[in-house]
Amino acid sequence: MSTSAHDRIVIFDTTLRDGEQCPGASMTFEEKLEVAELLDAMGVDVIEAGFPIASVGDFESVAEIARRADRSVIAGLSRAIPADIARAGEAVKHARRPRIHTFVSTSPIHLEHQMRKTQDQVIDIITATVAQARNLVEDVEWSAMDATRTPIDYLARCVETAIKAGATTINLPDTVGYATPSEYEAMFRQVRERVLDRVSNPEAIVFSTHCHNDLGLAVANSLAGVAGGARQIECTINGLGERAGNAALEEIVMAINTRRDVLPYETGIDTTMLTRASKMVSAVTSFPVQYNKAIVGRNAFAHESGIHQDGMLKNNTTYEIMTPESVGVTKTSLVMGKHSGRAAFRDKLKALGYSLGENALNDAFTRFKDLADRKKVVYDEDIEALVDHEIAVAHD
Ligand code: KIV
Ligand code: ZN
Repeated sequence: MSTSAHDRIVIFDTTLRDGEQCPGASMTFEEKLEVAELLDAMGVDVIEAGFPIASVGDFESVAEIARRADRSVIAGLSRAIPADIARAGEAVKHARRPRIHTFVSTSPIHLEHQMRKTQDQVIDIITATVAQARNLVEDVEWSAMDATRTPIDYLARCVETAIKAGATTINLPDTVGYATPSEYEAMFRQVRERVLDRVSNPEAIVFSTHCHNDLGLAVANSLAGVAGGARQIECTINGLGERAGNAALEEIVMAINTRRDVLPYETGIDTTMLTRASKMVSAVTSFPVQYNKAIVGRNAFAHESGIHQDGMLKNNTTYEIMTPESVGVTKTSLVMGKHSGRAAFRDKLKALGYSLGENALNDAFTRFKDLADRKKVVYDEDIEALVDHEIAVAHD
């Protein structure tokens, strides 16, 4: 049992469902099993393994992940349609801890243009479908699709209906990435205030965030949702997902770990596995990770400017707020380029096994700067060639 005073945040990973919905990111059966195995080992609390009604392949991968998972809850997604729910139940039934995640749209835009249903009809659908799911499994999550564009009174009515029908996790997604952090936080506060007094089991209900990144606010919104009372965050490795993606798991977890002073929460994630997970998801989806991506980008722990390199050589807290080792990167890299200074150059020579006198060092440094002006990055071999030349000249 945790003795920490920090609230535990449930990490719900949807790389294999919302992430895979990203155009061009589909994974094979074996790749999905490999990703799920890593997520399970990494301490992800809930793995949304897929959308079982979507295809036979999806059904089979969810079912196999359910059979194999050691620790994680395995969730299958379903629309608010009886056949979907039955299929999701069938797929997750072999899991040690199965969950059915069912959703329906609640916003006026979706009700009018997509579902062509009245608000009262949707309430009846929630009652029937959540009850059906609850007959199949104990653990039912219900989502109000497009929650952030739903009037608060109606949203609260839907949530109350879902809880009374048996849902214990209530997810309020920012489906189109439209909310701002203060709005998202307020939505959770208001819904919780309106609903929790009216249900018999308030302590059993976990509210959940699910944020898309259309305005680049997915991680900030997720953390704001937690400030509003949510205790589950839905996210994906590398922020993969529909359109601009979902909130990135690695960013959420490291924000919580790094800023415990203002984010008094904890997760069960082994952060040293984050880089491996990022690389695996990038490899199986063929989606490259942008170089300057927070936490897992190639440059996240690389320093080129002379001032930064000088500071890093003296003490790494000068320009790093977390250690590379904490996310599974072996060490900081001081990238040698035209912005590098003499201190980093001297350090690099030492690491390469050279010890030059002051004059030779100055000459080599001038030649290095010339080279760096012509090349984007100067590799160790370039520096070795340049110093070997310096030594040969000195011996002539
Ligand atoms: O973005 C969304 O609303 C979803 C739901 C299916 C939870 O992905
Ligand atoms: Zn989504």
